[in-house]
Amino acid sequence: MNKHDSERIAGMLEALGAYSVETIEDADIVVFMTCCVREAADTRLYGQVASMKNIPLRDNTPLKKRIIAVGGCIGQRDGDKLVEELPHLDIVFGTHNLASLPQLLTETLEQGGHHVEVKDSSQSFPTDLPTNREHDWAAWLPITIGCNNFCTYCIVPYVRGREKSRTLEDIAEEAQRYVDAGVKEITLLGQNVNSYGRDLYGEPRFADVLRTVNDTGIARLRFATSHPKDLTDEVISLFGELSSLMPALHLPVQSGSNRILDAMNRRYTKEHYLELVRKLREVNPDIALSTDIIVGFPGETEEDFMETYNLVKEVGYTQVFTFIYSKREGTPAATMEDDTPREVIQERFDRLVELVQEQAYQANQADLNKTIDVLVEGASKRDEKLICAKSPKNVTVHAPLPEGVSIDELVGTIIPVHVDEAKTWYLSGQVVGS
Ligand code: 5AD
Ligand code: SF4
Repeated sequence: MNKHDSERIAGMLEALGAYSVETIEDADIVVFMTCCVREAADTRLYGQVASMKNIPLRDNTPLKKRIIAVGGCIGQRDGDKLVEELPHLDIVFGTHNLASLPQLLTETLEQGGHHVEVKDSSQSFPTDLPTNREHDWAAWLPITIGCNNFCTYCIVPYVRGREKSRTLEDIAEEAQRYVDAGVKEITLLGQNVNSYGRDLYGEPRFADVLRTVNDTGIARLRFATSHPKDLTDEVISLFGELSSLMPALHLPVQSGSNRILDAMNRRYTKEHYLELVRKLREVNPDIALSTDIIVGFPGETEEDFMETYNLVKEVGYTQVFTFIYSKREGTPAATMEDDTPREVIQERFDRLVELVQEQAYQANQADLNKTIDVLVEGASKRDEKLICAKSPKNVTVHAPLPEGVSIDELVGTIIPVHVDEAKTWYLSGQVVGS
């Protein structure tokens, strides 16, 4: 979501005549798009803005001072507090008013001083703004913004507001525009895409969104993120029906202990989650599953952790994003008793990461000696003769660039690769016919 917001910010700045530069030293305007889901990102933002004071302005700039803006979740949460702590900061905006940036920028240029504007709810979707997409062949497409779930550890509902869905017509129009412009992969976005439509139509209609976007002729369709409590049988069945729907699903479980899931207010049980996995594998035995897990939620015991560990073992994920619980002020979990020593949590975390790596390695073996269609993203940073691409399961694939072909011809195309090596985090092989 943050990447998508950043593409919108870049689009708006370009519409004003700005252009992007490679290094911060060359930038007259710096916009930080922020996340406060965990403390580390939060602390880093304050540190990075503070260090901007030591970076001199480029020669020949018409400005007397570099303009620094902070937007997104931390802007939303901290508002004026940011400019009090960081007086060289010029502009603060929140998650609901990305569209205010041009106005705030103009005011700053004309008047100097601090310009802080944070709103309580959104008037429109950021997607109505111009965009400068990072890749011509891929697009993020938000279908909902905000979240109504209030998982007890999570700050998102407080900084992103209540869930709002876009109309199906709007989504279809934007998807069609991307397909007509040559986009190969659309990723539908929402804090919980599965509850799409509840505010508009009175019932989730995420399956309709998937069918509609599939019908635009898009080559590859993905979505994030799914809440297990709202994943319907109808959506599961689409993994066996829609040609564009990639065989990969990110389904955050957070914990394998029913006691902890309850304390997290996740509103499903381990048994329900495993039943979803069973149904998904029934539709497509080869589907790649990924998840998010929090280790060290307040009161987590060794038994609770082992339930998580065993669930991970049972499911066999392609990828697991593991997080150590981070206390977020203002959330219900912040007031829960939390007496597990840090070293114990770290040790659990390390055990889990080791299992995740073994599983990722195992999962990748499923594609060994197969020919798979990959979407070419560019050349490897380390070797310009090596293609970097993504498999249908969203795993990185490397292959030598065929003789006489330039990488520019291949970027954004889908080509067959025969996989002859499967490692933990990537596959490698040969382009078929090269
Ligand atoms: N501490 C640790 N991880 C968190 N997440 C959300 N809030 C917290 C928190 N307070 C994780 C969840 C979520 C992912 C995006 O971030 O696992 O799925
Ligand atoms: Fe946070 Fe839960 Fe909403 Fe996800 S579903 S954004 S974890 S509150």
